[in-house]
Amino acid sequence: MTSAAVSNPTLFFNGGILQGEGVEHATRRIKDLDNVFQDTKVFGKTDPETLVYEVSSFLPVAEGTPGGLYFGLTHIHPGKVGNEYFMTKGHFHALIDRAEYYWGIKGEGVLILMNENREVWAERMFPGSLHFIPGRVAHRVANTGSQLLSFGASWPADAGHNYEEIRKNGFARRLIDKNGIPTLI
Ligand code: F6R
Ligand code: ZN
Repeated sequence: MTSAAVSNPTLFFNGGILQGEGVEHATRRIKDLDNVFQDTKVFGKTDPETLVYEVSSFLPVAEGTPGGLYFGLTHIHPGKVGNEYFMTKGHFHALIDRAEYYWGIKGEGVLILMNENREVWAERMFPGSLHFIPGRVAHRVANTGSQLLSFGASWPADAGHNYEEIRKNGFARRLIDKNGIPTLI
């Protein structure tokens, strides 16, 4: 149904796949996740091409544009490195006070959060869960289930990403599978 005033949307996330003009796709494989997992022995023995997560993003304005808003969908595959679940790299925003929303679409996971004092806490993520990530809080998601975990994200176009801090110092706590239960240690 279209008319001069009512048009079809230009973006879709049918079945969790973000489609539309201007959508960018990125993949993160084991070889891209240096310094993420604790068990370096198992990490070193894992096929470097193993797909861990994929991100598709709609970035309608140039990075850094004040007032701009970005949208992303992340899909984390099920899997573990040792007793640690497949997870995103995690980051603070480069403009550290910028906030973000995450929301669960499919599968089960845990959102791990850490403030600048390195205090860590975590929230369960599931279809319909909504997570407000305040500024000054680093964020990372682990897939704790046996299916694909998909979640949406929206963040300011001028937020940027500071991966270096987490790459160097990590999160102060890790989420591991302890006798089948996701546990922060
Ligand atoms: C954007 C954001 C998400 C993540 C995505 C992948 O600020 O938080 O879109 O970028 O979930 O995680 P990272 O970026 O940590 O590899
Ligand atoms: Zn972010």
